[in-house]
Amino acid sequence: MEQPQNTPTTDSLARRQAWKHLQKLAADPSLRQLRDLFAHDPQRTSKYTVRQGAILGDFSKNWVSDAVLSALIELANASGLSEKIHRLHNGEVVNPAENRAAAHVLQRRRHTHKAIEAQRQHFYQVAEDYHNHNCLTAFGEPVEAVVNIGIGGSFLGPQLVIDALTGLQTSGRCPVHFLSSVDDSLLEKVFSQINPRRTLFCVSSKSLGTSETLRNTEAVMQRITTLDGYQPGENRQSFVAATANQDAAARLGIPASHVLPFAHSIGGRFSLWSAIGFPILMSAGAETFSRLLQGAENLDEHYASAPFHRNLPVLMALFSIWYRNFMQLSAYAVLPYDARLKHLPAWLQQLMMESVGKGRDVRGHPVPYSTSPWVFGEHGQLSQHAFFQAFHQGNDVIPVDFIGVRQPATENQRFLLVNMLAQSATLMNGTHDQRTDRHACCPGNRPSSVLLLDDLSPRSLGQLLALYENMVFTQSVIWDVNCFDQPGVELGKRMARQIDHHLQAGTLEALNTDDSTRALLQEILSDHTQEPEKP
Ligand code: F6P
Repeated sequence: MEQPQNTPTTDSLARRQAWKHLQKLAADPSLRQLRDLFAHDPQRTSKYTVRQGAILGDFSKNWVSDAVLSALIELANASGLSEKIHRLHNGEVVNPAENRAAAHVLQRRRHTHKAIEAQRQHFYQVAEDYHNHNCLTAFGEPVEAVVNIGIGGSFLGPQLVIDALTGLQTSGRCPVHFLSSVDDSLLEKVFSQINPRRTLFCVSSKSLGTSETLRNTEAVMQRITTLDGYQPGENRQSFVAATANQDAAARLGIPASHVLPFAHSIGGRFSLWSAIGFPILMSAGAETFSRLLQGAENLDEHYASAPFHRNLPVLMALFSIWYRNFMQLSAYAVLPYDARLKHLPAWLQQLMMESVGKGRDVRGHPVPYSTSPWVFGEHGQLSQHAFFQAFHQGNDVIPVDFIGVRQPATENQRFLLVNMLAQSATLMNGTHDQRTDRHACCPGNRPSSVLLLDDLSPRSLGQLLALYENMVFTQSVIWDVNCFDQPGVELGKRMARQIDHHLQAGTLEALNTDDSTRALLQEILSDHTQEPEKP
């Protein structure tokens, strides 16, 4: 397979020079000697620690020096980062493939465009109507649970936020269940947990063209509308739709009053701040949702105004690029040491890999260097007992983000943080005591960052999520790729549609595909499977 050359070829001289400078710096092996970097610079911890709002970021245990940081900032400048951030914040075009702005930043501002404000007020009002029982289900019952039918960005953000905030004292809470992939067992599980007559089904899909979401919606509608007493009307609705495609919602039979629209210019994986966050409102209440938006807005202001060497999302993006393109490290782990953040890795995986996992630049030319790292993660303590062995001693180095939460200051919370710091320190320090056991020798000098949150409140959570969103936008600017499209995913979807079409029509012989796929399809269609085992 052809390997990326790791040098930009299609852009400005300044960018090429900055890139070459970084390549030269990367050849210095002393950068990987973390313990020595600390020994030579007593100011290192404070120099590489940035506090912003409720987040303290300590980046001192990374393979970087002052010279590396300056050179990375040079690369950011040569890539026009300041101007691109300005365009993002001003609602100018930053998604050239679709000739669109990316409105997620405007969506979370308190004072924003009139159209966005009107849409926001609408979904707040609908949530309030259900909370106050001014609106009931189509069975004339109050809503006591929500089922979110959606996938990708129309699922991961709400799931993460609802789980993270579940422990808070909030008003109007009602449980939210998620129906994401097409899977009968998932459907049955959700239905076993709800009273369908007292459940609000929220079809969440920007496009309302995602086949898994449409199939799930159809299956749910089939079950609900055939139940005795189903009688929708004004102020009696069991379905709402959060979407940018209002016509498709109307075709599903959802009345305009219960369609929660948002702008096409809000990218799916950046959409939790829009009507896609409706289940968050239903579960946590309007005040919590507003504070979540405010937290994100605070972080956006920091992103737009802080100098790059003190700018949290810029620093995190620059370090990730340093590791990916100059240190040739292909993976990146995010490890929240707090079970409430257990869905953060999945959310970040889509955010980063779908946004900047690109092989073409914004002009459509091949990108001659690596882009998104392989993002993975898990709740910290679980990962300690799963893949930390490889982190400490395996031959591949994986940069890590540790995320800890200080409050509540209980014994257990402290124990979690102690474990987190122990892992971070051990990754750096390793052990070389060969007298005891040669097999136990761990090399150390492995990089990690620590993000310490004051608490896990709607505000700090908003800051954390906006931090990662802005990090990804920064990566896209420097890698010169469009972070708001996903042509690879679309290609896979088209193939599934084609196969499905030929299956339905009984014309598999006309399907343009390879022998392996054709043989497997025949296998699926054939009836010589073994008798299923009795449960
Ligand atoms: O995974 C591809 C994708 O298009 C994502 O970008 C999006 O979040 C997800 O599918 C769901 O899309 P929609 O909200 O349009 O159903």
